[in-house]
Amino acid sequence: MTLSTLARSIAESPTLRLNEEARLLRERGEAVIHLGIGEPKNRAPLTALLSAAAKLNTGEIKYSPTDGIPSLKKAIIRYTEENYDKVIAPENVIVSAGAKQSIFNILYAILNPQDEVLILAPFWVSYPEMVKMCYGVPVIVTPEDGTFQPRFEDIERKLTSATKAIIVNSPNNPSGVIFSDEFLSQLIDLCERRGIYVIMDDIYHKLVFDGKHPTPGYRFTTKDVESTKIIVVNGVAKLYGMTGFRIGWAVANRQLTQVMTNVQSQITTCTSPFLQVAAEGALTGLQSIVENLRLAIQNNRDVIMQEFKSFPGVKCVKPEGTFYCLPDFRAYQKDSVALSNFLLKKAFVVTVPGKEFGMEGHLRLSYAGSIKDVTEGIARIKWALDPQSPNEIYIGDKKMVRDWL
Ligand SMILES: Cc1ncc(COP(=O)(O)O)c(C=O)c1O
Repeated sequence: MTLSTLARSIAESPTLRLNEEARLLRERGEAVIHLGIGEPKNRAPLTALLSAAAKLNTGEIKYSPTDGIPSLKKAIIRYTEENYDKVIAPENVIVSAGAKQSIFNILYAILNPQDEVLILAPFWVSYPEMVKMCYGVPVIVTPEDGTFQPRFEDIERKLTSATKAIIVNSPNNPSGVIFSDEFLSQLIDLCERRGIYVIMDDIYHKLVFDGKHPTPGYRFTTKDVESTKIIVVNGVAKLYGMTGFRIGWAVANRQLTQVMTNVQSQITTCTSPFLQVAAEGALTGLQSIVENLRLAIQNNRDVIMQEFKSFPGVKCVKPEGTFYCLPDFRAYQKDSVALSNFLLKKAFVVTVPGKEFGMEGHLRLSYAGSIKDVTEGIARIKWALDPQSPNEIYIGDKKMVRDWL
């Protein structure tokens, strides 16, 4: 085989694969419900669309500075001040093609071969693969108590002299859990003392429920942005429903930002300036759009939790943020890949196997869609798995009879 061994070892993104499967089934006319989707359904903010359209109308769509156009960086600096209470300079910010590229840039810029990166299970599917792509070693830390709250002592146990960084994602994809202040404070204190980078993936930080908020990592350090090991990642994808615009950013010390900029300049040159002005439009426009989305998602979270109450055997930790939950289906099937395939085949419901997130026996369900999708999706899953549920159901206009329980 003439292909790179490393490249061949990188797994396909399971969520993107499922999107494709769902699309093909829909094309065949099947009434698919997509509870695997990682994006809100709302339209992009008008201010984003108008800014992008105005830029396109100029006809002047050229390369931008690699680290981002100055006006977007200014908006990110203001965002950081308002939401993180941190004053930063333009030299601390690099704009990339989504938070995904920001995280890749960071890993590429900090890792030497065989450096270890701690990843807290359940984790976003891309972290381990990105670490491997940078010749690092992903070290998974799994909480033992089933709460999805990482424990400091589990992390201490996994530390070695090769530990270079830890990735923190709170509120967490896929569990929806917000990490406790006590945990973050202990973790950041340890990392600052030992010189370990804390990569804080804050992409869902405003999609939080019941008045709870994740505390910004900076709150737990006395160091300034030039000397702290904390790196913050954020973007417009999830908060503004702008997943397709592909704009994210990282905030880090100047030296690291410069190295990431050099790396990015050799890979993508820059992100498109008309997408950058769209992100600027979102950040500087009316912020009620984020609050409206948050309220709609919180309502969906309440509906899905209510549905689980009448689903015997399924246990679900109540999400405090994001638009995901990670119920435990082991009472029905321990193999989450088999279960997810079964639900797609029998009930035309897309779910993501927990195995992909380091939590076998669970399924990740997204409630970013409509209430109708959420309730109907759960009803179909119940029908497929729970012998107590009625054995007939309508899927689209087809009457389906369960003949396997
Ligand atoms: C935890 C987490 N980080 C980062 C991303 C990627 O964000 P972006 O679309 O800005 O690349 C996602 C997308 O699903 C995510 O769930």
